[in-house]
Amino acid sequence: MTTRALPPETPAGADRVPLLVPVSSRVLRKAQGVALCIALGAALSFGVGGCDSGADGGDGAATGWPAIALDPTVTPPQKLSATGLARRVQGALQLHPDLVPYDLTMPLFSDYAEKRRALWVPKGKVITWRDDGPLEFPEGSILVKSFLFSEDMRDPGAGAGPRVIETRVMVKGATDWKAWPYIWDAEGGDATLAVNGAVKEIAFVDPAGTSRVANYLIPQRNQCLDCHDQGVDGEQVTGIIGPRARYLHRDGVYGGKTINQLQHLHDLGLLPAMPALTTLKPATSLDEVRKVGVPNLHGPALESAARDYLEVNCAHCHSAKGVEGRTSQLFLDAKNDNPFLYGVCKAPSSAGKGGFGRQYDVVPGHPDKSILVYRLETAELGAMMPDIGRSLPDTLGIALVRKWIEALPPVNCDR
Ligand code: HEC
Ligand code: HEC
Repeated sequence: MTTRALPPETPAGADRVPLLVPVSSRVLRKAQGVALCIALGAALSFGVGGCDSGADGGDGAATGWPAIALDPTVTPPQKLSATGLARRVQGALQLHPDLVPYDLTMPLFSDYAEKRRALWVPKGKVITWRDDGPLEFPEGSILVKSFLFSEDMRDPGAGAGPRVIETRVMVKGATDWKAWPYIWDAEGGDATLAVNGAVKEIAFVDPAGTSRVANYLIPQRNQCLDCHDQGVDGEQVTGIIGPRARYLHRDGVYGGKTINQLQHLHDLGLLPAMPALTTLKPATSLDEVRKVGVPNLHGPALESAARDYLEVNCAHCHSAKGVEGRTSQLFLDAKNDNPFLYGVCKAPSSAGKGGFGRQYDVVPGHPDKSILVYRLETAELGAMMPDIGRSLPDTLGIALVRKWIEALPPVNCDR
């Protein structure tokens, strides 16, 4: 992964760059946006294990939270507290009560980090349904994602509770999203805007009970775009990845009640138009995979689990729209139904280190002959996939992809 210097600001009007420019000359896109201001909400502690916002996107009483304010056209405040989005009280992360927390059925793996996600839509505006790709958020919307590490992930609430490492913020401008990383101070209740990123050594016990030390990477601001930039109509646009209907289609806990997250957004008036949820197939739940155990997955359930895992971990680069991985012509989005394009008997076409002694990305029946598995397992720079965002192997994901490849109908790739 090459790192790129933050490019200079471009004049207004030059807010979209053609996809074909070399990635090294990406320019910041300026959008026209609006300053945001909403009513103060009631302060509420946001427990670690649950995802209870207790807030209904409304007009809570003012109890010490500033109004949420983030202007997508300018560099945001140095301190996260000034945005009104989040704060830390006695080590615990608290989100503004007007944010709506959500989880994904299948999340991205980031060195076992525990993640807390939430969304906010300006008052009076709504989210538009999309069958495919992320839901369409109105200008001024904000998505936040925080990364935490419990000392022992089998018991996240134990001891002093999880360490809050970073909070990533995306705010919707007129044409695309702006991405901003904040790193939490070692002590105290605030996080600081950190466009240059950082690497932190973090020790923890993973959910399976293995002791690990991550060289956890907080990306530089321009590295955010490696994953968040997509090709749209021949142009390179910064976008969101997670909030797709299939991935939001799961239960959350709001105000002490368990309710489907999409239904909850609908009930809040934030997602007025949506199809009957019974007609929508959710993306595979990783919690469910963990519970059932990879060895017990077979047939279509195994196929969807592996394909959904590859989609959320790889397809932002490896799809027809992915900017970083397009040169490889390896398309790992779950909708791609062409086996060659998801790697079956495909010799690598990209400029990386090649095959690492293996010939094809995916050899049905043979995970140990598949380049894709090698790159998922290794931590060697230049070979590791994803090439950014992890320093440790994801043992559950590896087991899942191995089992899927073992079960693929046999083909002789050398014929
Ligand atoms: C390795 C690829 C990768 C990098 C680098 C990356 N992200 Fe993301 N990000 C994702 C994926 C995939 C999701 C959705 C899945 C999830 O949340 O588990 C996501 C989700 C998010 C979200 C929640 C909204 C959404 O798009 O789903 C925010 C906010 C966010 N990222 C901000 C950032 C910022 C800011 C940076 C740079 C500091 C960054 N990301 C770097 C892959 C990446
Ligand atoms: C941040 C962007 C990014 C992400 C995320 C990413 N890749 Fe890649 N991948 C690349 C780039 C760029 C190349 C081409 C250069 C190379 O081969 O190293 C590549 C190449 C590959 C290749 C060689 C493909 C070929 O046929 O040439 C494989 C296999 C691969 N990636 C697997 C994966 C898997 C599996 C994941 C998810 C677990 C993943 N990648 C996630 C950027 C990414």
